[in-house]
Amino acid sequence: MFRVKHSHILPLVFCIIFLTLFLLVQARGHSHTEHKHSHSHKYSKTPKHAPPSPPHDYNNASCIFDVRNFGALGDGKTDETESFKMAWDTACQSESSVNVILVPQGFSFLIQSTIFTGPCQGGLVLKVDGTLMPPDGPEYWPKNNSRHQWLVFYRINGMSLEGGGLIDGRGEKWWDLPCKPHKGPHGTTPPGPCDSPIALRFFMSSNLTVRGLWIKDSPQFHFRFDGCRNVHIESIYITAPKQSPNTDGIHIENTNDVKIYNSVISNGYARKILLIIPHVRLLHQCIINLFAELSSIGDDCVSIGSGCYDVDIKNITCGPGHGISIGSLGNHNSRACVSNIMVRDSLIKVSDNGVRIKTWQGGSGSVSGVTFSNIHMVSVRNPIIIDQFYCLTNECTNKTSAVHVSNISYTDIKGTYDIRSSPMRFACSDSVPCTNLTLSDIELLPEKGYMVDDPFCWNAYGDLETLTIPPVSCLLKGTPQSVLEHDITRC
Ligand SMILES: *[C@@H]1O[C@H](CO)[C@@H](O)[C@H](O)[C@H]1NC(C)=O
Ligand SMILES: *[C@@H]1O[C@H](CO)[C@@H](O)[C@H](O)[C@H]1NC(C)=O
Ligand SMILES: *[C@@H]1O[C@H](CO)[C@@H](O)[C@H](O)[C@H]1NC(C)=O
Ligand SMILES: *[C@@H]1O[C@H](CO)[C@@H](O)[C@H](O)[C@H]1NC(C)=O
Ligand SMILES: *[C@@H]1O[C@H](CO)[C@@H](O)[C@H](O)[C@H]1NC(C)=O
Ligand SMILES: *[C@@H]1O[C@H](CO)[C@@H](O)[C@H](O)[C@H]1NC(C)=O
Ligand SMILES: *[C@@H]1O[C@H](CO)[C@@H](O)[C@H](O)[C@H]1NC(C)=O
Repeated sequence: MFRVKHSHILPLVFCIIFLTLFLLVQARGHSHTEHKHSHSHKYSKTPKHAPPSPPHDYNNASCIFDVRNFGALGDGKTDETESFKMAWDTACQSESSVNVILVPQGFSFLIQSTIFTGPCQGGLVLKVDGTLMPPDGPEYWPKNNSRHQWLVFYRINGMSLEGGGLIDGRGEKWWDLPCKPHKGPHGTTPPGPCDSPIALRFFMSSNLTVRGLWIKDSPQFHFRFDGCRNVHIESIYITAPKQSPNTDGIHIENTNDVKIYNSVISNGYARKILLIIPHVRLLHQCIINLFAELSSIGDDCVSIGSGCYDVDIKNITCGPGHGISIGSLGNHNSRACVSNIMVRDSLIKVSDNGVRIKTWQGGSGSVSGVTFSNIHMVSVRNPIIIDQFYCLTNECTNKTSAVHVSNISYTDIKGTYDIRSSPMRFACSDSVPCTNLTLSDIELLPEKGYMVDDPFCWNAYGDLETLTIPPVSCLLKGTPQSVLEHDITRC
């Protein structure tokens, strides 16, 4: 339901005035000179506006393979898959230490679902300064192509995906398929498979860097890394509107040594409104805050699946969306092991969750050694949450085994929460309690009105290192004997 509360009228008026002023200034600017562009949005790098990149960024041993030299036109209509494959194969077989596949600025390239396979002779750089996009929706997706993935990088050691360009997943027609949640007749969800492609998938690869790109509107997850090692993601920008189901920003699984730094992920913003003013950051903020009330469909900013360890996430801005998640783990009675995860110096805004650990009943293994530190929350529904009763169908039964959640530290988590739910929730399994949860410097205030609920704990053991706001009195002291004896929690 769309309803604007009284408390929203003032900011709405403010937004409208701001928008009007902005459009006026913009119109005037354009009448003076065609080539002057607003740079108020730091990430508004529509390729044709971006400054040309210097042709020789790389050392003298590098080779540059421009996809246009392999027949690609860059008109945004022609299928260029074959040209990209040729460019890839040539670069991959080149013995130079760095081989750059250049997707030039000012051009749009349409390519179909493709697996780019290694290993390659030297290091590879896929430098996207223009735009890359898939066919526009399921109707144009070739029948014999995978509907699970679009661009796949497989068995590559040493690759960088970078540039000042755009990867446009064109997901809208996939999100609107009748099989998607609530898209059926009268808001129903018809059963059956509803595959939609992941935009970028790295599989069984190592020494990967992703840097500088804007990735938007994936049909499903924007990035998925599975079976990878040594992954560094830096300064990327991911956007998708709120009506986009299951469009996690970055999902990692069975992947270790991961660094995600200095990036912005917003996969739940209000689509219709932002279409008018896609590139103005201040307005994004203004409107995003205004629509905090409407719960988002978007999805996780970063999700960490089973088999991940040594993950460092620093200085990222998440939201609107579902926040940062570890899980869901232990689905179909599976064993999950996740350890040594650090999330620090970040901002989570207008999200259903802040930092979340979610596991299914019946799993085994453990999540251990997780630190959430210096995280600012703005209007988040569940800023701190452990949910060991995760279930999508309302038909899950309680089981006697669970993924053990232990050694989780929350320090310096401040900001505001949306009062529809309790700001802290530790709902741990009946049979396998959470242990050694530590809280310090927590200060979470209701966004407006008064706190309604106390923090919630169920079978959660841990300590407060400082007083918290709101006060937490429900954590159990010590370590339960039962957990120490459990074999199922070993990893
Ligand atoms: C690269 O080439 C330029 C001129 O061709 C030369 O001046 C420079 O020293 C070379 N750099 C390296 C690292 O070899
Ligand atoms: C799909 O079919 C087209 C045309 O029939 C063919 O050229 C292409 O190689 C096929 N692709 C795959 C992945 O089988
Ligand atoms: C991958 O990274 C590891 C560790 O940094 C390094 O030892 C190895 O040489 C790298 N391999 C390639 C192909 O870059
Ligand atoms: C944090 O990331 C933003 C980009 O989202 C960047 O502008 C800023 O400089 C980064 N801050 C630090 C301290 O690196
Ligand atoms: C599972 O256990 C939790 C905690 O004891 C309880 O709140 C919940 O209702 C149970 N669910 C089912 C389906 O029995
Ligand atoms: C509790 O967890 C922290 C890390 O979160 C760890 O440093 C500490 O040693 C753990 N304490 C116990 C008793 O396991
Ligand atoms: C928690 O941390 C302590 C100290 O670092 C370690 O001994 C213990 O094994 C950890 N617990 C789990 C379940 O990994």
